[in-house]
Amino acid sequence: MKAVILSGGSGQRLAPLTNTITKQLLPVANKPTLFHILDLIKEETQIKSICIVVSEEYGHKVKESIINSEYKKHFEFDFVFQDKPLGLAHAVQITNMHMGNDPFLMFLGDILIDKGELKKAYEQFIKNKPESLVVLKEIEDPRPYGIAEVSNGKVLKLVEKPQEPKSNLCLSGIYFFQPSIFYAIANIKPSYRGELEITDAVDFQIQEKKSVEYYIIKSWWFDIGTPENMIKSNEALLNKLAKNNINSKFNQSVKIQGVVCIDQNVTIEDSEIIGPAIIAKNSYLKGCKIGPFVSLGENVYLKNIKLENSIIRENTKITNVMGIISNSVFGKNVELSLSDNLKDLTKTNKTKYIVGDDTKCTSL
Ligand code: DAU
Repeated sequence: MKAVILSGGSGQRLAPLTNTITKQLLPVANKPTLFHILDLIKEETQIKSICIVVSEEYGHKVKESIINSEYKKHFEFDFVFQDKPLGLAHAVQITNMHMGNDPFLMFLGDILIDKGELKKAYEQFIKNKPESLVVLKEIEDPRPYGIAEVSNGKVLKLVEKPQEPKSNLCLSGIYFFQPSIFYAIANIKPSYRGELEITDAVDFQIQEKKSVEYYIIKSWWFDIGTPENMIKSNEALLNKLAKNNINSKFNQSVKIQGVVCIDQNVTIEDSEIIGPAIIAKNSYLKGCKIGPFVSLGENVYLKNIKLENSIIRENTKITNVMGIISNSVFGKNVELSLSDNLKDLTKTNKTKYIVGDDTKCTSL
């Protein structure tokens, strides 16, 4: 069995964070979503061969990051460039040559799920050998997603982004297919949004009375396609930190509570860290209250700030911001620096920032 990961698309809902990087490479809990997915496939399936669909714009960056990663030792990778984001079914269609006659897992590159769920769906597919298996998640408002109508263990219908959903089971972005999916894709037309939808291809199989099974995720699942969901995924992943892993030394001016992972060569002075939180190497913190649910990338510099539920990417510097920085995502090489006389750590109003890479905002 093989796998296809879709890492193309445009990621517009994450702008400005995606103005300089594709969303699948954006770090959540200090690791790109794509790498979290590779971890799951490595740990929970026997799959060794992975085809990654990439966009013309960012494909080379994705390829480079995979080729330079530890995953290269475990998996055999193929990369297929998609000229334009013509839909999920189109993305699968262009992997036809690479998939050959093997059944395969299709994983959208912007999805994160809790450990253990993929394994169960994979085992169900291997055991029952249906034509297709769709992985579903029950959610409150499924309108932005594809939805599945099910009854007595069977999938009755799939609809892409319905205005009035008849079910609250959404398509999670994880699918298992026999090679016959290519026949179904050849039989569908582009949707109202001009895309070849994988939802329509599987629905075609249902109408043709092929066996289409489903598996429902019981634990957490997120589509990281919006900053809010990135922050929720970060929280879910940090909640999984089991024990402290502290690789730098601090004096008594530093208070740490909860579970934290602190890399080497991190300097912290006069600060409080509330886990769960991760701090990558070479970072510097002074006069800060950090956490819970904070991920700091490498070489981050924070002075006189309060920060919670946020992701700060590498080489970013934030100083003297009043109030609490909350539910925020800062890209890399950002500078948000106010002068020392504006410093006021007593303010508790919360402000949300979504800041793209290389943004500079400083006062004298
Ligand atoms: O998040 C789950 C949802 O994903 C499902 O419920 C929907 O049924 C499914 O259509 C899909 O909807 P989205 O609108 O969220 O798809 P999005 O455009 O975000 O693309 C999902 C992933 O596939 C993302 O990693 C980008 C990649 N992609 C997307 C398109 C349209 C490609 O590689 N090529 C493409 O042509």
